[in-house]
Amino acid sequence: MKLELIFCAICVIGSRAANLPSYITPCSRSLAINELTECVTTEARRIQPEFAKGIPEFGLEPIDPLPLDDIVANAGTFIIRSKNLLLKGLKKMEIREVKFNLEKNTGSMKLFGNMTFVGDYETDGAIVLIPIKGNGKISVKCLDTNILIKYKLRKIKDPNGVDHLETYDIKQSEQYGRVVFHLTNLPGGEAIGNTINQVMNDNWKDLIKQLGPPYTKATANKVHELINKLYSNVPFDQLFAL
Ligand SMILES: *[C@@H]1O[C@H](CO)[C@@H](O)[C@H](O)[C@H]1NC(C)=O
Repeated sequence: MKLELIFCAICVIGSRAANLPSYITPCSRSLAINELTECVTTEARRIQPEFAKGIPEFGLEPIDPLPLDDIVANAGTFIIRSKNLLLKGLKKMEIREVKFNLEKNTGSMKLFGNMTFVGDYETDGAIVLIPIKGNGKISVKCLDTNILIKYKLRKIKDPNGVDHLETYDIKQSEQYGRVVFHLTNLPGGEAIGNTINQVMNDNWKDLIKQLGPPYTKATANKVHELINKLYSNVPFDQLFAL
């Protein structure tokens, strides 16, 4: 009986130790908010390349490029459906700040950089009265983009009664330096296609305001799904030491 207990204690310690990847150093949850933010931001930057490559032992796929579900967005009568979407660039996005307020159970993340959505599109409707019904390849380059993601935190217990962090109620907003659209195979031939791309790029601010949210929402949700998968593999007590 005693031996069993000791063995069990060892296996628990053993499995817990194996849970924490070597590149994660826990931040102390007793740090003041500013210091905790600094610590977590540093850790997040350290994890970013590993996270980008994927962490097979946690069942995490690479996040760059990040496959996204199909998205439907519209600007007025212009409807665009995107399929086989990939987001490129997350591994190089600069993590400006990652904040956890463990008392209020809130957090936020600030990212900056360039990212590009590429995939297949299908459009319907019109842009500035030019009818656009077609399909082809789409690329949306978001340059010098500031992203702010806010979320709530809670702890959930795994089947062994161990607490894990989870983020939920994710809200994001972004400010773009510039956005460059490129759609291939637009109807009416190359000259008209170029004109349509030009019109879209001349009006990128209005367009992205309307077309952007479904894309960024899908991205934020996907990234948080993966972050939560990471959390589900690492006990809260190891992520935030005493
Ligand atoms: C984003 O891309 C633009 C154009 O290629 C480049 O000038 C800029 O330096 C890039 N920004 C970052 C943060 O990498």
